[in-house]
Amino acid sequence: MNILAPSILAADFWKLGEQIEQIKAAGAQYLHIDVMDGHFVPAISFGMPVIRSLKKSVDMIFDVHLMLENPEMQIERVAQCGADMITFHYEAAKDVRGVIGQIREQNKKVGLVIKPATTVEQIKEFLPLIDMLLVMTVEPGAGGQKLIEECLDKVEELYHIKKETGLGFDIEVDGGVTLDNLAHVMKKGANVVVAGSAIFKGDPGANAKAFLEIMNP
Ligand code: DX5
Ligand code: ZN
Repeated sequence: MNILAPSILAADFWKLGEQIEQIKAAGAQYLHIDVMDGHFVPAISFGMPVIRSLKKSVDMIFDVHLMLENPEMQIERVAQCGADMITFHYEAAKDVRGVIGQIREQNKKVGLVIKPATTVEQIKEFLPLIDMLLVMTVEPGAGGQKLIEECLDKVEELYHIKKETGLGFDIEVDGGVTLDNLAHVMKKGANVVVAGSAIFKGDPGANAKAFLEIMNP
């Protein structure tokens, strides 16, 4: 089954609890949480207190996307406030294997994420060590951008690697996914889909349902 991971970056924070209940009831399994530090990306979003507080009431898999410099400094904190899956940027880590080890030590799932300019070749050696590879289909840092079509070539490439090697990592896509391009994204080989604006603008429950009907026909 393919998994929908709505990104709360696009939520109405006044109605956050209500909107999360709506997407969960519609069948979304992951909650995608974008943590931005104002250095790795220009924007600052939210951090540990928000995750900790959501964790008390939300029974979903917390898929935390760290857009941070020096991710090694935050792994323990992020794990302790309730992340289930911790995804860090290849471009931000000085010691990728070290960070993977830190996440494993916390007994959390490991995700590695690549920006549009990073190639599959650059991260290939880490694929046997991770649970998920996140392919950014926009420049990280903001919601509501347009999907960069060429990034989907990497999804296709990863899908073939998975088939050839039998490795079990998930392929997640993040950025600019809408109801209009979703079928195309799935066809390239993604099995976890992040969507922010396309879910939270309008009726989140109805949007999530429409996504899942395409993702799991
Ligand atoms: C962007 C974030 C995304 C963002 C996606 O840096 O990583 O998760 O919320 O938003 P949309 O779906 O609106 O492109
Ligand atoms: Zn994200």
